[in-house]
Amino acid sequence: MRSLISIHDLSPDEIDGLIATANDIMANPDDYADCCRRKKLATLFYEPSTRTRLSFESAMLELGGSVIGFSEATSSSSAKGESVSDTARTVGCFADIIAMRHPKEGAPLVASISAGVPVINAGDGGHNHPTQTLADLITISREKGRLGNMTVGLCGDLKFGRTVHSLIDALSRYAGIKFIMISPDELTIPDYVMQDIILKRNIPYYETGSLEEVMHELDILYMTRVQRERFFNEADYIRLKDSYVLTPEKLISAKKELAVLHPLPRVNEISTSVDDDPRACYFKQVLYGKFIRMALIMMLLEVNK
Ligand code: NCD
Repeated sequence: MRSLISIHDLSPDEIDGLIATANDIMANPDDYADCCRRKKLATLFYEPSTRTRLSFESAMLELGGSVIGFSEATSSSSAKGESVSDTARTVGCFADIIAMRHPKEGAPLVASISAGVPVINAGDGGHNHPTQTLADLITISREKGRLGNMTVGLCGDLKFGRTVHSLIDALSRYAGIKFIMISPDELTIPDYVMQDIILKRNIPYYETGSLEEVMHELDILYMTRVQRERFFNEADYIRLKDSYVLTPEKLISAKKELAVLHPLPRVNEISTSVDDDPRACYFKQVLYGKFIRMALIMMLLEVNK
């Protein structure tokens, strides 16, 4: 029995397989409509979510399965003091697979040890978010036709943005990746990501505070929101929240084939006037995310079409 806690739990070949399955589901949805009949997904969300939870739930429903769960900690027994481990063991008696989002780093890992069913990390604190990375990778693969040989700009809150950490981890396994990390000094990537991934794997990188300076070089621009809920101090958040705002003017110097991604939700960091630019891929990313979660659920439940 397998869980997905970190993107490293999947090999590059397995990621290719998930992308291929997701592409096939998009082309032939009827072939998959009954794959998970009589199977149940539990979504245990201790933190706010729109896309990730509804994406998982839609994915399971479109596979013919059903869904149970909660969308806020206050409505679960954690409000009575129950441990993550006991909650997971309990839910594992009801559901065949669990997707969990939790504000504490490592909570889905703890859950996976006691649940007795596969657990998917749907975001743990400021740490990881592997299924968002799957959505990011399928989007890059469909837009660019490849996952290696490109310059990837990561812009915004690189310190607390968990999707950035998982994406760096995933992309740095492909040849020819260069990262350009664009953030205020206070929001640079955590030391463990720099040491254990970028430096250890000798990945070329460049750090800057200026998006304009590097725009022309980028093949992918991955924008992120400043993660208000992880700040200790509201004044710092207010000072940093509008550090970067992508506008049509800033895209003038960008490549024609640039792909702009964002895990969403956006606050101010991409002007809505960018949405109609053919390079804006963030709503496609939402759609593809559902199909690759379908592929992932099938893989972890070991079902075929
Ligand atoms: C992201 C998250 O929850 O980390 N959202 C998502 O799952 N698509 C990004 C964010 O909240 O900024």
